[in-house]
Amino acid sequence: MRLLFVTSEIFPLIKTGGLADVSGALPAALATTGLDVQILLPAYRGILAQCDAPRLLGSLQAFHDIRCELYQTTLPGTDIPLLLIDYPALYDREGGPYHHPQHGEWQDNPLRFGLLSKVAAMLSVPNMLQPWLPDLVHCNDWQSGLTPYYLQQLASPAKSLFSIHNLAFQGNFHADWRHRLMLSEQDFQPAGYEFYGHLSFMKAGLYYADALATVSPTYAKEIQTEQFGFGFQGLLQHRTDDLTGILNGIDTQVWDPASDPYLPAHYTSSALANKKLVKQALQAELGLHQDATGPLLGVVSRLTHQKGLDMLADIAHELLASGCQLAVLGSGEPALEQQYLALMRQYPGQVVVTIGYNEPLSHRIMAGTDIFVMPSRFEPCGLNQMYGLRYGTIPLVANTGGLADSVHGGAVMADGTLPETMTGLVMPENNPSTLLVTLRQAVHIYANSGQWQQLQKQAMRQDVSWETSAKHYFELYQDLLDI
Ligand code: ADP
Ligand code: GLC
Repeated sequence: MRLLFVTSEIFPLIKTGGLADVSGALPAALATTGLDVQILLPAYRGILAQCDAPRLLGSLQAFHDIRCELYQTTLPGTDIPLLLIDYPALYDREGGPYHHPQHGEWQDNPLRFGLLSKVAAMLSVPNMLQPWLPDLVHCNDWQSGLTPYYLQQLASPAKSLFSIHNLAFQGNFHADWRHRLMLSEQDFQPAGYEFYGHLSFMKAGLYYADALATVSPTYAKEIQTEQFGFGFQGLLQHRTDDLTGILNGIDTQVWDPASDPYLPAHYTSSALANKKLVKQALQAELGLHQDATGPLLGVVSRLTHQKGLDMLADIAHELLASGCQLAVLGSGEPALEQQYLALMRQYPGQVVVTIGYNEPLSHRIMAGTDIFVMPSRFEPCGLNQMYGLRYGTIPLVANTGGLADSVHGGAVMADGTLPETMTGLVMPENNPSTLLVTLRQAVHIYANSGQWQQLQKQAMRQDVSWETSAKHYFELYQDLLDI
């Protein structure tokens, strides 16, 4: 089985969130099941220089006015072929993959990701670049949403799977872009790529792909409802038989408390003592008092409405009164950033907020805190709660999407013991007062060091690797190809 995996970000080359982690780990896990995988990514600024000996394969006339070059290399740290689309006018710029350094989204994003989508399809029909042709194209999020459409346009025999990582980001643009992107006029309609008068990349993926997947079983159900469907619930209900939810795994080599190079000391589930040293080092690094009585809570997140961290800020005063500490790393909505910075000023030595993106610090917060807080309003999968499990940093999560599927909640039982299945705390409802109550339950368990250790061990022993999920993808691909 030959698979082309199309993505707009990939760890360790370019990352804004969980999609990069998934793209960096899933293809490698699939390769170990015997799949022949290639990955396709735009050559953003600096990417070619980060890769080993990129080889020019040739060029493709993707649109009337765009001829791009294709390079082949391997994903750093693996031997998986990585194809890079080189078109400097669109990709060689300062800033993020989707955003200008100051002024919001790149105005030509339809063209930038239209090109990604189109090249994926062109590599799936006989071409001058390589004899390798995929049986299946796995597209991820709106940035490759037009690929299934172009596959049809080019009459490619390859099947397509479209994975939803977050339905909130849809790639909806002014309808005029359809001319430049060479989309047929007659398909600009509800039974096509049109969505409320816009050209929608997400809609095209959901409508034209042979099969749909999303990143947890619970999110697969949720997106068929009005509350979580963002306007696509009708289409998703209609395609319910084609939609599968497969929980993400994590890269257990990159995220391993026994060997993580960013940590000052290492530990395992059977030798946990060093976790305390990692905590003390983190407290010292951030300027947190060493003598707190309560647990240290951690947050590493985009600071957006989705993540529900405004609820944590709202109850912070009551929480902090009980002696907890808080370490936050993130960036996003300016008002929320300000709210957290104000908390830091008000509680010196007890709250530390780092605004920005910092990979090494994210590992140290993951390992050095006691409880990892994720009260998301919706969460397609979420990876941090799984990093938390792996690091013995107990996740406290909302009961939604992949959080509900990956954290096994529970409470102290009538006989005073903890359930053996429990690996974290799950909020029964999603509001600030329930968050406070659930946090207090966590603080209560933390105070009993025997029980806390039991919980840490149970969390660390939960399987969060890609192994099981990669098998599910493998089976899904087989179904799609009828083999
Ligand atoms: P999402 O993709 O919705 O942002 P996920 O939980 O799936 O959420 O993945 C987020 C990823 O991005 C995790 O690997 C997390 O550690 C990382 N991350 C988020 N914010 C930061 C930050 N400020 N610094 C470093 N890493 C971050
Ligand atoms: C999206 C989602 C997140 C998920 C990630 C990887 O960014 O918001 O929940 O973990 O994709 O699938």
